[in-house]
Amino acid sequence: MTTKIAVIGFGNIAKAIITPLFEKKLLNPKDVYCLVNTKKSLENIKKNYKYNINILQANSKDSEIVWDCQVKLLSVKPQQLKNIIEINKKNQRNLLVSILAGVSLENLIKKFPNHKCVRVVTNIPITIGKGLTGIAWGEEITRVQKLFIKRLFENSSKIYEFPEYLLDIFLALTSSGPAIIALIIEALSDGGLSGGLQKQLSEELVIEMILGTVSLIKDTNVSTAELKNLVTSPGGTTISALRVLENKSLRSALIEAIVSATNRSKEFS
Ligand SMILES: NC(=O)c1ccc[n+]([C@@H]2O[C@H](COP(=O)([O-])OP(=O)(O)OC[C@H]3O[C@@H](n4cnc5c(N)ncnc54)[C@H](OP(=O)(O)O)[C@@H]3O)[C@@H](O)[C@H]2O)c1
Repeated sequence: MTTKIAVIGFGNIAKAIITPLFEKKLLNPKDVYCLVNTKKSLENIKKNYKYNINILQANSKDSEIVWDCQVKLLSVKPQQLKNIIEINKKNQRNLLVSILAGVSLENLIKKFPNHKCVRVVTNIPITIGKGLTGIAWGEEITRVQKLFIKRLFENSSKIYEFPEYLLDIFLALTSSGPAIIALIIEALSDGGLSGGLQKQLSEELVIEMILGTVSLIKDTNVSTAELKNLVTSPGGTTISALRVLENKSLRSALIEAIVSATNRSKEFS
């Protein structure tokens, strides 16, 4: 990739997207211009970041250079968006890829009228290269530009393309999902604790059980219903546990949680 890339907001998620591209030598750090807000972040990145990128502070004289880059990755927090002001001295029509939760393509186009905009939703496992990324393309994005943008994300995540209206449910499932799973792990571990296991061991058992179950479903293509039947014997322990969960409406609570997160995302957009 020889295109010049600007990263507006070089925080946790931006680093997770960009760093694997340096590691795999798909991108030259010299072609990347990163913007941060504070001097502290600027110095921290200069001192500690492994790659020699062009790092600039917002509103400094030399920071305008980011607006000349052909591709911009917008990765500030949504509440920081108001401080970003588009500059377009060369009258170019460049690409802007936003990973901001809850900022619609319509709002991006209003904010950056001289850019072709792309809206992306990604999730926290991207920080270990296991993210899920949903992309909604704006108008006029060429096939070559789409390929380029997909290459930016495919080293740290699996990519799914959607019409924009499906990004809210994608976000609910994949971005809120990790918190739901963390809560389930915590609760099951507490169950083990109640039965007399040490907290750490209980959590380890729960995590290994979940990993094993997920692998079984993925590797053998067994359906979730078949798996459930397989481990549920008449009058046994599992049906006893499932009965409690049905009684407490766990299934319905999880469905409603996703519907609620989706609606909240729509409200933000
Ligand atoms: N965290 C998640 O789980 C997650 C998952 C998927 C997507 N996202 C999305 O990813 C985006 C970034 O999240 P993050 O967790 O990476 O945030 P973060 O670590 O706080 O990074 C934000 C970056 O933006 C910089 N910044 C702030 N104001 C700026 C300005 N006016 N001009 C230029 N740079 C500015 C910050 O610089 P300073 O350090 O100097 O303040 C920092 O480098 C968010 O919009 C979020 O919706 C987050």
